[in-house]
Amino acid sequence: MSRISYVNGQYVPHSVAGVHIEDRGYQFADGVYEVIAVREGQLVDLEPHFDRLDRSLAGLEIAAPMARAALRVVVRETVRRNRVVTGIVYMQVTRGVARRAHAFPKNTDPALVVTSRTVAPPNESAVRDGVKVISLPDIRWGRCDIKSIALLPNILARQQATAAGAYEAWLIDDAGDVTEGSASNAWIVDKKGHLVTRALGTALLGGVTRASLLDACREAGVQVVERAFSRAEALAAREAMVTSTTSYVLPVVALDGHAIGQGADKGKPGPVYARIRPLYEARVAAALAGVPVRPLQKTAKVA
Ligand code: PDD
Repeated sequence: MSRISYVNGQYVPHSVAGVHIEDRGYQFADGVYEVIAVREGQLVDLEPHFDRLDRSLAGLEIAAPMARAALRVVVRETVRRNRVVTGIVYMQVTRGVARRAHAFPKNTDPALVVTSRTVAPPNESAVRDGVKVISLPDIRWGRCDIKSIALLPNILARQQATAAGAYEAWLIDDAGDVTEGSASNAWIVDKKGHLVTRALGTALLGGVTRASLLDACREAGVQVVERAFSRAEALAAREAMVTSTTSYVLPVVALDGHAIGQGADKGKPGPVYARIRPLYEARVAAALAGVPVRPLQKTAKVA
């Protein structure tokens, strides 16, 4: 079956789908995006993704390409036309096509592209045995809360991780603290046994999976502390994890070649992971089954 993509008002064969060479996304990375998980043919946390898209657009003063109800139709239709059961939707909004000049063009419509494809869930060995991460300096800009398509530092970091045989790169700010991964949020279980993830702000992206896991934990009475933690603290942590739309919740068992954890759990996924991953999965399963779940806590606003 050939893939179909949505480009500026039309569903077109993916093989010929394209945008103009003067699209500002192509020339300036002047745009934003979302990646949404598809499970059982349904979109996971669609509204929180739309909320974040709105915040990202507002942060860059790009107009919404269409009303949310219409966008919902386009996203669902793209999934349907591609018969995706387990996979992702990618949506990108740029400032549109205009003669190249840095300042915003006048009277230009934003451009919208939506694609969907099958992606396997995280592999069983990653879920069971965990993944390795490396750390690298965070060389990104000051508005990482905006899900911008300008991802050069992220892709360079992920490439270094891949070359080192690691799953992800954790980015370290000037204070020595972990901001997040190149495409995921970072978590540890500290020496006191508290689950910790960095508080939201302009240094990191407010992950939808992060918010969903936070809610699942709080509902189940698992205490979570939102605060910064350093690379040194992560190295000494009892456990570590990453969350993202494509990774869901995965245990991290090594940082820069050092095994994470203590005693028998050293270098292995720990008990907090074993407790909270099912909580997250149950939350997603309930939402897919149409059982009302408490809406996600409001994530950080784009300033
Ligand atoms: N990345 N931090 C960064 C820098 C990210 O790019 C992502 C997601 C996350 C996790 O956010 P969420 O839980 O909403 O997926 C955190 C997507 C998956 C990507 O770029 O492919």
